[in-house]
Amino acid sequence: MEICTTKAAIRAQLRDWRAQGRRVVLVPTMGYLHAGHLALVQCARDDAGAEGRVVASIFVNPTQFGPTEDLATYPRDTARDTAMLRAAGVDALFLPEVAEIYTPDAQTVVETTELARILIGKLRPGHFRGVATVVTKFFNIIQPDAACFGEKDYQQLAVIRTMVRDLDIPVEVIGVPTVREPDGLALSSRNVRLAPEDRAAAPVLNAALVQAEALAQDGVTASRIRSHVRATLESEPRADVQSVDIRDADTLATVSGPLAAPAVLLLAVRFGAVLLIDNRVIAPAPPSHPKEETP
Ligand code: PAF
Repeated sequence: MEICTTKAAIRAQLRDWRAQGRRVVLVPTMGYLHAGHLALVQCARDDAGAEGRVVASIFVNPTQFGPTEDLATYPRDTARDTAMLRAAGVDALFLPEVAEIYTPDAQTVVETTELARILIGKLRPGHFRGVATVVTKFFNIIQPDAACFGEKDYQQLAVIRTMVRDLDIPVEVIGVPTVREPDGLALSSRNVRLAPEDRAAAPVLNAALVQAEALAQDGVTASRIRSHVRATLESEPRADVQSVDIRDADTLATVSGPLAAPAVLLLAVRFGAVLLIDNRVIAPAPPSHPKEETP
């Protein structure tokens, strides 16, 4: 695995591979890798094929952290990450310092104006502007044919798909299903920061999502699914519920009444200082199912 810390070095590597006609698939990460990231790498490996090349990046992007957020304490272990990526069959790792990516007088940003302000964007103002800007920069530096992102960060995936569509960026965006612990907790680099009692309580997110899916299949309305889910989450004393939303699975527009199309249930819950997010796409009840009355 080639390790490139500068834009010039990764571009030179990519130039060679492109000249050889190879497909290039990117896996952008902020490091502290877990099995969820390895699923992204596996997806990239499968998509690239034997002749293609997989590039991973590790960059803890400062512009997507708010002033009171956990940038300084974000977990890092580059030696371990590098070994994991090498073992997973990554061909090149882009590992830049902050100064390589951002000049102090940079004044250009990328923002999905609507999507960046709702849901997590309301809890974390500026977060999706930071994500969209750094992903655009990485797409420009690496110019991959495709890039893999986890469905766990559902709104992030929607932001990136929208940005690619709106700006005609020639990169295929591939969503990869969430990887979970045996007790249902979605894998996240933040999980290691949970206190043991919070770690024990956190599977309540997945339990609430599974409950929502069953309710949707019974024809329960969006607002009642939401209140059932909120009640389940609030029954866990360690869970500080930040948001429970049901949105159209494609557009993230609000939905009401019995579900008429696939919807996504999005949760944001704090355990101590750690904000966990999770989601599940829930299908509407089959057409023959008697619909519950809208309250
Ligand atoms: O999902 C992440 O790890 C980050 O938001 C990303 C996409 C690598 C951008 O910094």
